[in-house]
Amino acid sequence: MDREEFCVRRELFDLDDDVIYLDGNSLGAPPRAVAARVAEVVRVQWGRRLIRSWSEGWWEAPQRIGDRIARLVGAAPGQVVVGDSTSVNIFKAMMAAVRGSSGGEIVVDAGTFPTDGYIASSVASLTGLRIRAASPSSLDLSEDTAVVLLNHVDYRTGELYDMARLTEEAHAVGARIVWDLCHSVGVLPIELDALGVDLAVGCTYKFLNGGPGSPAFIYVPTAGQASFENPLSGWHGHAAPFAMEPSYTPDPGVVRARVGTPDILSMLALDAALDVWDDVDLGELRTRGLELTALFRQQVEKLTSLEVITPDSEWRGNQISVRCPDAARVMDELIARNVIGDHRPPDVLRFGFAPLYVRDEDAVRAAEVLAEITR
Ligand SMILES: Cc1ncc(COP(=O)(O)O)c(C=O)c1O
Repeated sequence: MDREEFCVRRELFDLDDDVIYLDGNSLGAPPRAVAARVAEVVRVQWGRRLIRSWSEGWWEAPQRIGDRIARLVGAAPGQVVVGDSTSVNIFKAMMAAVRGSSGGEIVVDAGTFPTDGYIASSVASLTGLRIRAASPSSLDLSEDTAVVLLNHVDYRTGELYDMARLTEEAHAVGARIVWDLCHSVGVLPIELDALGVDLAVGCTYKFLNGGPGSPAFIYVPTAGQASFENPLSGWHGHAAPFAMEPSYTPDPGVVRARVGTPDILSMLALDAALDVWDDVDLGELRTRGLELTALFRQQVEKLTSLEVITPDSEWRGNQISVRCPDAARVMDELIARNVIGDHRPPDVLRFGFAPLYVRDEDAVRAAEVLAEITR
């Protein structure tokens, strides 16, 4: 697939032509097909089929859609399930990872997205383990480390971490590793099975374009399913949910990572949104993402004196972060001129490049507008 074919995919998205949308790393743009699908789900599946829809596809939707995401994260079918938020899935994954470990500490990425740190702290206080923040470049793990929780791409700087090396580093001391893929799924090929990752979670509303609040996913590899103890033992994770048994028996497979009734409207909006990924080659996608981010960096460095804090090497996601005094005001002005990114305190402007709908001219024009505003 060449560059032009990727650009044509913009037609699959419901985006105004004069909008330069560089915030797909926060909320992806809507694929056109989603609105009609959601309307059909409401009108027909809910409206006409009523309760029958639960046995006509709704009940299995978390596994079926999980298998669609599995391809994007290098997982064989039957290991990914969709539902709940990323935060809730981090909680499930961390509690399950800590159980059965004799280590005394949890190690969390020092620059982590805050929710990961907050949830890891709750897990530490519930289990009596210590928590330690460490940079992925010097984790300083030991045999006392029970679990390591890392973001694959740093949400602030856009730095991509080496999943192969860090997974190996954790395993070398007998620790488990949990990866947060929020900023890498839909950006580059990920190899969860091949790298022997213990557990992973991610959201679907960024580069996967699932829509605001679309359900997250959790990866539990086949080999770890029998020992995966879900701390939220809801009836949707039960081996026989309609037996209505008083005691909990987990499903033997990845279904045990489910909790309660999923948000079907959001789940099926995500299902429709995933259609745009069906024939995307992730290697080509990665090349295109690197091209777009390199182009924007080059233009920003040529036209402004602002500092780009995203690594210049291939160790970056589909995001360019720029240090800028008065970042909030500058982003307001950019947005007023139809260049939509976002900012993170205290002084970082973030620009996300979703190759399925961002064009070269968007990268060039966004840098020009940024230069005009900050001149
Ligand atoms: C790395 C990372 N983890 C987690 C989240 C959010 O978690 P939740 O989906 O529970 O709001 C985000 C949101 O931006 C994120 O960037």
